[in-house]
Amino acid sequence: MRREALQMTSPLFPTVRMRRLRLTEATRRLVRETRLHRHDLVLPLFVCEGEGVRREISSMPGVFQTSVDELVADAERARASGVLGVILFGIPASKDPVGSGAYDDAGIVHRAIRALKARLPELIVMADVCLCEYTSHGHCGVVEGERISNDPTLDLLARSSVSFARAGADVIAPSDMMDGRVKAIRGALDAEGFDQVPIMAYSAKFASAFYGPFREAAESAPQFGDRRSYQMDPANRREALREVLLDVAEGADMVMVKPALAYMDLIRDVRDAVDLPVAAYNVSGEYSMVKAAARNGWIDERRVVLETLTGMKRAGADIILTYHAVDAARWLAEDEAVL
Ligand code: PBG
Repeated sequence: MRREALQMTSPLFPTVRMRRLRLTEATRRLVRETRLHRHDLVLPLFVCEGEGVRREISSMPGVFQTSVDELVADAERARASGVLGVILFGIPASKDPVGSGAYDDAGIVHRAIRALKARLPELIVMADVCLCEYTSHGHCGVVEGERISNDPTLDLLARSSVSFARAGADVIAPSDMMDGRVKAIRGALDAEGFDQVPIMAYSAKFASAFYGPFREAAESAPQFGDRRSYQMDPANRREALREVLLDVAEGADMVMVKPALAYMDLIRDVRDAVDLPVAAYNVSGEYSMVKAAARNGWIDERRVVLETLTGMKRAGADIILTYHAVDAARWLAEDEAVL
C-alpha cells in the first residue's frame, strides 16, 4: 500500500503540508495519537529487613533497597505523584533451597504488603511471585541435580500466591516462567476464597541480559547455570504468542511482555492478538543505560524517558512497569500544566 499511497499524496504538494499540524504545542497535542498518562505506570520496589534502611543499588541510581518503613514513605511519594500501583520484590533475611520466604506469612514481602495496605488502602499493591529471590541457588524453581524442576515448583508458587493474597496483595504477578503456573495459581487462589484477586502473568519473559542490575537489587543471581531452560529465547516471536495464549487460557487477567525495549514488536503482536490488558516491563538494564548516559551528560534524561515510555504505549502497552515511574509522573504533570 505504501508506494501507491505515496504516489497519491506527493503530487498534492503544496496543497498537502504535513507541517501545518505541527506548528504549535496546542495543535500537536490536539492531534497526538498516543497519550502517556501517569496512571499507566507501576513502580517496582525492593524491600529488605530492618528499620530506617535505604541502600542505593549501585547500578541503578535512584533505586533503593528499603526496609518496610522507608518503603511506605516511597509508596506515599509515588501515590502523591499520581502513580496508582507498585510491584514488590523481597530480599529475605535468609534463603534456602525451597524458597520458604516466598510463602511464609511473616515473610518480608508479606509484612510490606500489610504495611502498605494499612497506610495506603487505595494503592494497588502487586506481588511478584517467583522463587529466585528466596532460594539459596537463585533459580526460579525447585532444583533437582542441575535441573530446574517444573511441576514441584507449581505448588510452591501457588502457596506463595495465596500467602500474598492473604497478606492483602491486590494483584498476583508470577514471573517464574514455569509451565502451568497460571492455572495452578488461579486454582489455589479460588480454593482459598481469593477469586477476586487478578493475575498479571509475566507471559512472554525472555532470558535477557537486561535483568543484570535487578539481580544486584534483588540479590537473586543464579548461583549456577542460567535461566535459559525456563525463560524464553530472545529470538522467538511465534513462541511468545503461544506463551501469551496459554496464560490467557489458564486464566490470566493481564499479560506481560518483558523486557520492553528490545521487544516492542512483541508488545504490538500481543496487543493485536488478545483483548486483555497488556503490560510491558521497562526493566532494570533499560533504566540503568538511560541513567548512565544522562549522568554523563550524553542524553536529556527527561526527554529520553518520556519518549521511551511513549514508544512502549504506541507499541500497544496499556500498563508500563518502570523504575522511572515517579519521575515520569511528575514530568507528565508539569507538561500538562503548561497548557
Ligand atoms: C524474578 C524477576 C526478575 C525480574 C523481575 N522478576 C529477574 C529475573 O528473572 O532474573 C527482572 C526485572 C528487571 O530487570 O527490572 N524472576
